[in-house]
Amino acid sequence: MKKQMDKTKKKEKQMNKEKVKLNALWFIIWFVGMPFYTIGSIFEYTCLLLKSAFEQICNWPQIVEKALDEIDVRIDDIEKELVHYEDKLKGKVVYMPCDSVDLFGKGLPSNFWVYFHKNFERLGLKKIVATYFNEGGRSYKIEYSGGCDNDVLDYVKVVMDGDGDFRSEEVVSIMKKSDVVVTNPPFSLFREFFNQLVQLQKRFLILGSPNAVSYKDIFPLIKQEKVWCGVVFNKSTTFVLADGTTKDVQINWYTNLDHNKRWEDVVLYKKYNEEDYPKYDNYDAINVNKSKDVPMDYDGVMGVPITFLNKCNPKRFEIVGIMSRDKVDVFNKGYPKIDGKKKYARLLIKKL
Ligand SMILES: C[S@@+](CC[C@H](N)C(=O)[O-])C[C@H]1O[C@@H](n2cnc3c(N)ncnc32)[C@H](O)[C@@H]1O
Repeated sequence: MKKQMDKTKKKEKQMNKEKVKLNALWFIIWFVGMPFYTIGSIFEYTCLLLKSAFEQICNWPQIVEKALDEIDVRIDDIEKELVHYEDKLKGKVVYMPCDSVDLFGKGLPSNFWVYFHKNFERLGLKKIVATYFNEGGRSYKIEYSGGCDNDVLDYVKVVMDGDGDFRSEEVVSIMKKSDVVVTNPPFSLFREFFNQLVQLQKRFLILGSPNAVSYKDIFPLIKQEKVWCGVVFNKSTTFVLADGTTKDVQINWYTNLDHNKRWEDVVLYKKYNEEDYPKYDNYDAINVNKSKDVPMDYDGVMGVPITFLNKCNPKRFEIVGIMSRDKVDVFNKGYPKIDGKKKYARLLIKKL
């Protein structure tokens, strides 16, 4: 019996020894592996950070555009642009489909409304109409056909069936009945808004980001002279935010209403020479660094800053294409490179 107990005790002792050995072994493995786990965790954390940063960078244009969806134009900036189209508005129904419901909490519609209302008789307008976006709810439409121009709250208000989304049938139907659309659409939906106006063959004057010039669906229309930039072009403009504070944003007006500035001539005085105007590696055109340096005596294709668009008198220059993306297509000729080095995005023009 005693022998049996000793045997069991010995076995237990041995098992305990094995356990200690095993634990020691685990400890050694854990200890030796610790730097690797730490590096692994840091690596994993860094990867997550990089992933999130990458997503932010990829979505950056959308994030910036979304932040600009609720900015209101100041009345003097509206006046500065609208003064160039006064003769185009006589007898017209002007529609503002992306208006503000309650500017500055004062129950006022947007400054577009204020401008057209106050200048209604002077401009000889037929009617002004504005609708608002009340996401998921019911919006309303306001209309004014003259009477008391100075009282901007003098209007007829009609409750709408839908929320005033510019893509809704209700708004499309109002758009179809209007002659000119003038508004500041949400920047993040600019492309969609623009394409809708083009599809409906509307006359328009709208605000957008200068980047829109090179959008795949907008540039072809600019090249074909179906749409052009307004007078105030690529300019930092002060907007009012919902809380009354201001923000400076770079903007362009886009329009298919003619204006005199389009036909103005630029004075060219530089002479072409191979050294100052090298050719691109990937397209047969010379590079011009500044708009004012466009040579007066070069007859081939020239890559000029995109801002040359508002100097591009259609009687004097043909727009050949753009170089703003690597991918080559009918309109985009690749991203400009000289001696393998990337240059700035360029507009391709040719003297007529
Ligand atoms: C940049 S703000 C311009 C406001 C105003 N028109 C102005 O500039 O004084 C764009 C306006 O479009 C409205 N909006 C946003 N999404 C819209 C949509 N899907 N349809 C119609 N309007 C929309 C916003 O509520 C906002 O008031």
